[in-house]
Amino acid sequence: MERDYQFYRSIADHIDAVTGGFRPEIGLILGTGLGGFADMIGPCEGFERCEIPYAEIPGFLTSTAPGHQGKLIFGQACGRKVVCMSGRFHYYEGYSYEELAMPVRVLALLGIKKLVVTNAAGAVNESYRPGEVMVIRDHIKLFGGSPMRGPNVPELGDRFFDMANVYSRELRDVALECAKESRLTVHEGVYFFFPGPQYETPAEIRAARMLGGDAVGMSTVTEVITASHCRIPVLGMSFISNMASGVTKHELTSDEVVEAGEKAAPLLEEYFCEILRRLP
Ligand code: HPA
Repeated sequence: MERDYQFYRSIADHIDAVTGGFRPEIGLILGTGLGGFADMIGPCEGFERCEIPYAEIPGFLTSTAPGHQGKLIFGQACGRKVVCMSGRFHYYEGYSYEELAMPVRVLALLGIKKLVVTNAAGAVNESYRPGEVMVIRDHIKLFGGSPMRGPNVPELGDRFFDMANVYSRELRDVALECAKESRLTVHEGVYFFFPGPQYETPAEIRAARMLGGDAVGMSTVTEVITASHCRIPVLGMSFISNMASGVTKHELTSDEVVEAGEKAAPLLEEYFCEILRRLP
């Protein structure tokens, strides 16, 4: 299947036909800890909240990760017109990096002007603690492959494109400002991508730390690279669900990650909502 402009256009057209052409201003891709936020999305100026399961969108991918539901939700949340991906796609599920470009390209065609992405991550920085938040200043993705590999889609962006400003200073400042009124401890740091699904070895975490990583995770970077290609500014936030491998001595399981997210959910949702309200 050729992933040309028409491919993405036809997916966006299908969605437009269901929503009646609803134009969200902000795209949300929510990871562990903020999954419940989707329930806060309501109707918007005569537009009924609308949910579309990924499985009903021809050409869309379907999600398999635990705690990820798999639908697009359109409506208003915290005073903003949003489209939310409830359930995201990860490289470890078996998708190619190229396939992982699809969701954000479709959101771009639906008209989003900003993308907010969240994830659960392990703390590499030993001064971080589970239950805290890291606003993503930058990321490191050393593993081969890119969602933009293959023929460029010039209608969406340039062959070679900047990655220096995608984690917008302006959007990060809003998140850091809102942190002052939250009981959450909020850091700013570097997200280090590992492809998973295995958690990292202690040596990998030491290497990530030496290279400048503050938190590790298995998502987000493909979405951010795709957003940068089509010039959509991103706010990225990591919920610190655990200390990374080797920092703690106990076995790391996905239960620990999901449980930490559930515990922090009310505070995270409140903080997140205030950020949405104040985003430019
Ligand atoms: N490593 C990778 N991904 C993660 C982690 C981790 O420690 N915690 C949550 N997602």
